[in-house]
Amino acid sequence: MSRPEIYVDANADAAAMRAAAETLTLIRRAVALRGRAAVALAGGTTPGVMYRHLAASGRAGAPWDQVDFFFGDERCVPSTSPHSNYAFARRELLDPLGIADTAVRRVETGISPAELAAEAYEACLRGYFGSLAAVFDLILLGVGADGHTASLFPGNTALDEVVRWVVVARAPAAYEVTERVTLTLPVLNQARAVFFLAAGAAKRAAVAGALDTPPAGAQAPAARVRPAGRLAWYLDRAAAGHLAP
Ligand code: 6PG
Repeated sequence: MSRPEIYVDANADAAAMRAAAETLTLIRRAVALRGRAAVALAGGTTPGVMYRHLAASGRAGAPWDQVDFFFGDERCVPSTSPHSNYAFARRELLDPLGIADTAVRRVETGISPAELAAEAYEACLRGYFGSLAAVFDLILLGVGADGHTASLFPGNTALDEVVRWVVVARAPAAYEVTERVTLTLPVLNQARAVFFLAAGAAKRAAVAGALDTPPAGAQAPAARVRPAGRLAWYLDRAAAGHLAP
C-alpha cells in the first residue's frame, strides 16, 4: 500500500475539478493497458460536482465505451428514488455522457429482501471479475462526518466482513435510508486506485481521522481503506483543516 496522496484546493469546485481530471487520466491509462476500466461510483451528494465535470469532458474526455460502471454502495430504495445513488449518477454523469445501462451494473434494489439483492450484486461482480478477486481500476468514495465510507458505518458488523464482497449494512437511525447494500473492505482494499472526495468543514474531523498517523484508536471505516494501489484524497481547504499546506 502506497502512502496516501493528499490534494487540497481552495474550494469544493476546484477539488472536484482536480479529481475529475485525475479520473479521466486514470481511465485512459487503464483502457490503454487492459482494454477496459472498471469504475465504482460513489454515493452521496459530494461527487455531484465532480460528475458534472466528468460529463462536461464529453464523449472525447475518455474512452467511455470501454468503461464498466459499478456502485460502491446503494440505498435500498427504488432506482427512481431521489435517495438512489444510481439515480443520482444517471442524472449527473451517465445520461449526459450517453452511457447505456448495458455498461452500468447497479445494485438491483427491486430484489427483496436486501440480502438477496446483496447476493445478486456479488454474483454480478463474480461474473465480471471472476471468483478470485474483484479488482476495480478505480473506486470513488465519499466520507461521512462520522468517518463512514460507502455504507460501512462505525460499529457496523459489515466492517468486519472479510469473505463476502457485498453485504447488507444498516446506517444509523438518523439517516433517511438505513438499509443499504455495500462493497466490503476487502474489495475496497483490492482496488488499483481509490479516490476520496470530501468538502466542507463538517468533514474535517473525519478526514483527519482517516489520514492522521498513526491512526488514533479504533479506526473509522474511512481510515481502514488502505488499497493495494493508489490512495488519493481530494479536499477543499475547509475539509482539509491542518492537512492543508
Ligand atoms: C452513501 C454514500 C456515503 C457518502 C457519505 C458522504 O450512499 O450515502 O456512499 O458513503 O459518500 O455519506 O455523503 P455526502 O457526499 O452527501 O456528504
